[in-house]
Amino acid sequence: MLGRVCGIVGYLGHRSALDVVLQGLGRLEYRGYDSAGIALLDGDGSLAVQRSAGALSNLEQRVAEDGREHFVGTGGMGHTRWATHGAPTDRNAHPHRDSTGKVAVVHNGIIENFAELRAELENDGIELSSDTDSEVVAHLVGRAYAAGPAAGDLTAALGIVAARLSGAFTLVVTHADQHDKIVAARRSSPLVVGVGEGETFVASDVAAFIEHTRNAVELGQDQLVTITRDGYLVTDFAGTEVETRPFSVDWDLSAAEKGGHDYFMLKEIEEQPEALSNTLRGHFADGGVVLDEQRISEQDLRDINKVFVVACGTAYHSGLLAKYAIEHWCRIPVEVELASEFRYRDPVLGRDTLVVAISQSGETADTLEAVRHARTQHARVLAISNTNGSQIPRESDAVLYTHAGPEIGVAATKTFLAQIAANYLVGLALAQARGTKYTDELEHEFAELAAMPDAVRSVLETVPQVRELATRMCDAKAVLFLGRHVGYPVALEGALKLKELAYMHAEGFAAGELKHGPIALIEDGLPVVVQMPSLKGHSQLHAKLLSNIREIQARGARTIVIAEEGDEAVRPFADELIEIPAVPTLLQPLVSTVPLQVLAAEIARHRGYDVDKPRNLAKSVTVE
Ligand code: F6R
Repeated sequence: MLGRVCGIVGYLGHRSALDVVLQGLGRLEYRGYDSAGIALLDGDGSLAVQRSAGALSNLEQRVAEDGREHFVGTGGMGHTRWATHGAPTDRNAHPHRDSTGKVAVVHNGIIENFAELRAELENDGIELSSDTDSEVVAHLVGRAYAAGPAAGDLTAALGIVAARLSGAFTLVVTHADQHDKIVAARRSSPLVVGVGEGETFVASDVAAFIEHTRNAVELGQDQLVTITRDGYLVTDFAGTEVETRPFSVDWDLSAAEKGGHDYFMLKEIEEQPEALSNTLRGHFADGGVVLDEQRISEQDLRDINKVFVVACGTAYHSGLLAKYAIEHWCRIPVEVELASEFRYRDPVLGRDTLVVAISQSGETADTLEAVRHARTQHARVLAISNTNGSQIPRESDAVLYTHAGPEIGVAATKTFLAQIAANYLVGLALAQARGTKYTDELEHEFAELAAMPDAVRSVLETVPQVRELATRMCDAKAVLFLGRHVGYPVALEGALKLKELAYMHAEGFAAGELKHGPIALIEDGLPVVVQMPSLKGHSQLHAKLLSNIREIQARGARTIVIAEEGDEAVRPFADELIEIPAVPTLLQPLVSTVPLQVLAAEIARHRGYDVDKPRNLAKSVTVE
């Protein structure tokens, strides 16, 4: 499937649109950085357009070369692109224009029927100038605006065109003759409106306008918004006004800035105690778990007899941890599946199945398709997401938001910890519904979870030690990660972080599997990072892991051991020991992951890579 995840911002107000749009794009660059472009309404019937392949700084340079005097006006829009199809070139950069040059369009998503629309346009003698699916929209809107029932009405023209499109899209459209109006439409792709004093914004994410206003409005599926300097009007594609959901953004600009850190990821790692508190806050009241949205009846929850957890990447690793908690607390079998595999193997689903879909962005195509498949099979779907109003929560029967705040670094950190906490809340909700735990037991489990922000705060004290360790590990050929029980998903996550950030070969293994093959990889000096289980909580496993460490040390491995404070038994076998606070077994991943995140980020930094924007990756992956 073609498609992309991109950042979009549109503005009409009283400030320099150039400044507002470029600044907004800067905050959305995490959504893609293959190319960027702007189209500004200068008010005298023309559009000032500039585009450039590569990062936003390339576009800024071109604007500077042209001279700022060419980009006047207080209205306009911009786009930052993550390409999946067609080269990330100038020619494919947005905005795209129609043949008159008066209509400009930016697009996030995929227009699945673009080939037939393109053929239709070409039959009519229109020449397209890019390889994108998006450009057809500019021409179609241009035609609808020029003649027919929507002549001269940009809103109606976009409505007519949007209704013809299949696929997913956020579209923002400007017309050179309409300098007091910008029109946008959405289907299965995000779009929010920002409402300020004498200025109005549209964007993929509130981060684009948070420093100007916190008043936002979420657009629903198949809706259209027309913004002016004084307000907005939301309709369906046919032009009928619809009810909107205004909300106030509860985080501020400092959350979207690096806050004095070298890179966002380190800031986000350090925000983890707060992210955890915010995720837990308000979700446990009167002895029970409270979800954000709940459209599953108590009886249906009680009848659940099987749980599938579906997710991708880091979210999948959090899902692996959900299995330990839910099976232990609720005595329901849980299967954890990579979302991209789920629907293709015809899983056994029904009314009594609960599918827990975990997605930070709430947009991941693989997870969304898994949710859709589950719903066709009548399963109940509960979404865990960090993005209010995103597609996966919208299509689910119940939602628990993680409230971890914006995560700008492409690699997931604080949202991983927040997902683990949310998974455990879901486990407690199920235990409560099924009566497998008494109220006082639920309260006890919740109190233990509620103590975790402090434990994470104390593990952050290891950051300087891990940063120093990273300087000695950045030339390693490969790194292995070992764990058992809940330490196994942590090992997988540690390896994923190192691969995606430092571009190093890394593998996570269940330590017990080592002897079945991977031990052959051990050679002199190979760094192996080992998670020790809790000494009190899992003494048997602890002893087993000690033997595993002995085996690899005997074969020359350099052991980097993450163990509870006071774990004296492991000390003689640790070439490097990172101590973490002793916490209940199920909660250990919340502390043991933190040094691994720092290790990967710092190794990447020493190797000269952009920690926040690893190559070939984007924050939301809206392609299958
Ligand atoms: C890794 C990472 C990815 C995401 C995955 C799912 O650091 O961030 O592996 O976890 O792409 O994304 P969401 O949670 O948005 O569905």
